[in-house]
Amino acid sequence: MKILAITNEKGGVGKTFLATQLALYCAKQFSIKTAVIDLDSQGNATHMLHKNKLAYDAPFCSLDLLKPEFERCVSLLKSQPMETECPLLLIPAPEQGQDLINHTEQNEADLVKSISYFSQAMDELDDLLDLAIIDTNPNPDMRSTCALFNCTHSIFPIQLLYESLTGVQSLYDRLNKFTSGAPRFDQEHGDLGLLPSMVESTPYQIKAGLELAEKQADLLTPIREAVVTTGPDNTISVTEKECFAAIKRRTVFAEAQGEGHPVWEMPNSDRGWYELKRTFFALLERLDVTFEPHPTPEQEQAFAECKELHPEHYRALVRQLWLSNNFKDLPKLTKSHEHTLALLNMRHNVPLSYLND
Ligand SMILES: Nc1ncnc2c1ncn2[C@@H]1O[C@H](COP(=O)(O)OP(=O)(O)O)[C@@H](O)[C@H]1O
Ligand SMILES: [Mg+2]
Repeated sequence: MKILAITNEKGGVGKTFLATQLALYCAKQFSIKTAVIDLDSQGNATHMLHKNKLAYDAPFCSLDLLKPEFERCVSLLKSQPMETECPLLLIPAPEQGQDLINHTEQNEADLVKSISYFSQAMDELDDLLDLAIIDTNPNPDMRSTCALFNCTHSIFPIQLLYESLTGVQSLYDRLNKFTSGAPRFDQEHGDLGLLPSMVESTPYQIKAGLELAEKQADLLTPIREAVVTTGPDNTISVTEKECFAAIKRRTVFAEAQGEGHPVWEMPNSDRGWYELKRTFFALLERLDVTFEPHPTPEQEQAFAECKELHPEHYRALVRQLWLSNNFKDLPKLTKSHEHTLALLNMRHNVPLSYLND
């Protein structure tokens, strides 16, 4: 199981938006067994996912995972059948008034215990889930410490504003403090860096974004895309273009959160979703969620046909189809619509790494 900690000491930077929408994307479009663990007692992720029953609730709250009760709670969860249609589990924030732990004033010994309970709980959830996404509260207290100490991957949504960018060092100091030597953290690939969020096309933000891309590209997630062109003699050529993952500020994103819908199901979300899914796909690739490939015979056949048609480029083309949902990205195969669909639906049965074989 991969565990993504979404943290930033600032509020209102898009942590909850990323946690909930990325989880919906993974569960609904890729059938990845995903959980959102809402460690923020404001419960914004919980409220969003409750609106239209987008996830099914664990029979306990997130803070129970930081207490000795975690064992009873997780075994209760394991005794219930897992939802398969949209495999999205919500471990909700405590209800108002039930958040009785004083998170900031915990002593060292209690903090060590909380981290250890949470860690054991993650071990127990390992065979139930492929991916756990932890949404955290803004204050750097023991809840985000538990998340950072126990994650495999970490990401910081950040606004391209002067006061945020000058705080990057302190985000990294905290990350390094808790993840260096942490047992689960993927030391080589676990740092997903900064995710510019709520990006606006103001002169300052454009300049800040360009500077970041130029001087600190290693802190950003690259998005690779295949560009397919068909020549006059029907030959196709595939080139690659690269940009960086970021999320623009868009009214439709705030509306999706407010109304409790995946972005792609909102009316007028085409343009926004077109951009957002590229960022989500790139993050998903970097998370490298592992599960067994189970392609159906039709999917295997469609894949083989694509291999035959495009011996050189079939991986890039299937990857591009998974990224874009656009049948035009698979020239020649589009005639047989069913085959194209089989390749698209393959996302539900095989991990992205299948395309690297
Ligand atoms: N990219 C975006 N464009 C527009 N509104 C956004 C975007 N990301 C988040 N929001 C909205 O901004 C507010 C704060 O975002 P949120 O994800 O809750 O931040 P955080 O969890 O970091 O406090 C919410 O109302 C949310 O719906
Ligand atoms: Mg939040």
